[in-house]
Amino acid sequence: MKRLSEKSEKILKVIHLLSMSIWTTSLIIMFTIGLILPNAETNEAFYIGHYINYIIDFLIVTPVAILTFLTGLVYGIFTKWKIPKNTWLKYKVAITLLLIILGTFWLGPLLRELTNSVEVDGLSLLTNENYLKNIKIVTWFSLVNSLLLIVAFFLSTLKPGNQVD
Ligand code: HEM
Repeated sequence: MKRLSEKSEKILKVIHLLSMSIWTTSLIIMFTIGLILPNAETNEAFYIGHYINYIIDFLIVTPVAILTFLTGLVYGIFTKWKIPKNTWLKYKVAITLLLIILGTFWLGPLLRELTNSVEVDGLSLLTNENYLKNIKIVTWFSLVNSLLLIVAFFLSTLKPGNQVD
């Protein structure tokens, strides 16, 4: 398989590191906003908090998650780091895919549904058991997802089961 030039590999690394750090930071911000949402005192503040999280998820998290995955795949195919030969790379692919699937099919749609319901029902949702359960799920899963990405940081540097060098 053709290998990337040294310069292309360095550029790939910059894009990979930028996207994975923006992804992780965005999730930590979403977790923090999610924690303070139930303290909102006006309908506007309550809605804006949800809307900011929705926009971060839709316009930032989704593209950078895909970019991290794609740059990772290019890395794992066109450099010396071959995915089938390295356990740490297989774990990283599994974590990245798991987070993208969870976000696309579960957490993203749930956050969109919550944001729409806040626009309609406002602060009255703070006494709705279903809303309170769902906002807890979205908020705490943002933290769980960022912790899984931090595990991927450790895998990247400690490289357990490394077959290269
Ligand atoms: C499809 C998924 C992924 C694949 C195949 C992949 C693959 C790679 C490869 C081959 C390297 C180069 C290793 C080196 O030069 O030492 C790398 C670097 C790195 N990756 Fe990923 N990656 C993926 C996802 C992620 C994720 C989700 C994160 C963290 C959020 C991450 C964090 C890092 C870090 C911190 C480095 C730099 C390691 C170093 O220079 O010591 N990667 N990745």
